[in-house]
Amino acid sequence: MSLVPVIAIDGPTASGKGALAERVAEALGWHYLDSGALYRLVALYANWQDCAESDDAGLAALGRGLPARFDGGRVFLQDIDVTGEIRAPGVGDKASRIAVKPALRDALLSRQRNFRLPPGLVADGRDMATVVFPDAALKVFLTAELRVRAGRRHKQLIEKGFSASLDELCREIALRDERDANREVAPLVPAPDATIIDSSEMTLDEVVAMVVEFAVDRRLVDSA
Ligand code: DC
Repeated sequence: MSLVPVIAIDGPTASGKGALAERVAEALGWHYLDSGALYRLVALYANWQDCAESDDAGLAALGRGLPARFDGGRVFLQDIDVTGEIRAPGVGDKASRIAVKPALRDALLSRQRNFRLPPGLVADGRDMATVVFPDAALKVFLTAELRVRAGRRHKQLIEKGFSASLDELCREIALRDERDANREVAPLVPAPDATIIDSSEMTLDEVVAMVVEFAVDRRLVDSA
């Protein structure tokens, strides 16, 4: 049994869970796992390797042997910096489509659990609290209204140089929510013991402070 504590942060697309998890990890001095990046990397790698979306075993094999590396906030695939590329809307969409496949999810399971290293791990995704780290010491389900999430994603994409329309993003995010929440394996649902935070009217700083306070209250850290 692993005693390394985990804070699991799940939530829908553009809820801000990635930024939250990264900031909480930084505040506590813990490791950080962006599990969505793994699904995005497999989607990109499948393009590179001409692996068809229908090839479940092929995708699982790519996931198992994924030549990826996370280094100082950058993401590398076969030693190529793909930090920006995996954030492209097409890659995220493909990640959501292939993430419904049980063989791929299974292939990525041990890889995700390997991030659990002392002094602790903050992990964000869709099934961190329900499947990957069901024994997480703290489980947060972060959400926000659809329009707010679309607005945040819009801002991010424009900043990264992608073009985007707010109405189109609303439609795409609603579709992604629907797919992630209704798939048969590891759907996006709050764990029964998760604390639900609606960040529609909160700043990132406020949400970070709240989660760090939960961690201190639960004695996961002395203070932060
Ligand atoms: O969090 P994200 O937007 O980077 O994730 C991209 C896709 O990957 C998301 O639409 C669904 C999938 N995903 C998943 O199924 N399980 C996870 N733990 C993380 C992401």
